[in-house]
Amino acid sequence: MPRGRRPRVIYIKTAAEIDKIRRSGRLASRTLDYVGTVIKPGMTTGKLDRLIHDFIRSHGAVPATLGYKGFPASSCISVNNVVVHGIPGLQKIQEGDIVKVDVTTILDGFFGDTCRTYKIGEVPPNAAALADATYEAMMIAIATVRNGSRLGDIGEAIQGHVEPRGYSVVRDFVGHGVGKEFHEPPSVLHYGKRGSGVKLRDGMIFTIEPMINEGDWQIDVLGDGWTAVTRDGKLSAQFEHTVLVDGPGAEILTLSAD
Ligand code: MF3
Ligand code: CO
Ligand code: CO
Repeated sequence: MPRGRRPRVIYIKTAAEIDKIRRSGRLASRTLDYVGTVIKPGMTTGKLDRLIHDFIRSHGAVPATLGYKGFPASSCISVNNVVVHGIPGLQKIQEGDIVKVDVTTILDGFFGDTCRTYKIGEVPPNAAALADATYEAMMIAIATVRNGSRLGDIGEAIQGHVEPRGYSVVRDFVGHGVGKEFHEPPSVLHYGKRGSGVKLRDGMIFTIEPMINEGDWQIDVLGDGWTAVTRDGKLSAQFEHTVLVDGPGAEILTLSAD
């Protein structure tokens, strides 16, 4: 392997590292709890991002996205047809929107990465159904994870839940290993075949973060180089947890007290 590069293998975390990622993950999740208490119609996404920034900093952590590959904000905020990597700014959140807020913390050198879709007030039934199915798909996928299961089990579980409902799985972005780095091996595809792919082992930590479109899965990236939107203009939803492979199951590391 070239000098200076980190090994591109799936690193098995030690107990001490797991504990640090758990702490970071809990803070990321508490940040999203906090978002749930402050997000409201009329607020700009930029204002919400500043609140997120201050919350993370005041808890002794650093927002990982700020300056990451040039990303200019402390969170990704993606409204309605924006799939991922929405840049917070002057856009006003409105009643009826679905808003994805993705937060990644660095606490004591370790990353925690989590995203939720928020329903703003009364949302149309199709938007609510999409968000609910996306959450269910993530949880069903997490339920496949155990020592000895395979990455393909995750992908098939997600596809199997959303495609019969007429939704589609975004291909262009994937889950990823998490640890001392933001994005580590493996890549976690949200589509695939049961029994295929890398075999999971105790101590692996990665995200599962399905992006589910109401229409077709194709996306476009806008001229800012970040904002990914659905090509057909329809809605997209996302949830993300960071999980640990732990014997007969998975531990979700991005859980808050509630
Ligand atoms: N948090 C995102 C993820 O789930 C990554 C955001 S990278 C950014 O992997 F640069 F867009 F912030
Ligand atoms: Co992620
Ligand atoms: Co994320």
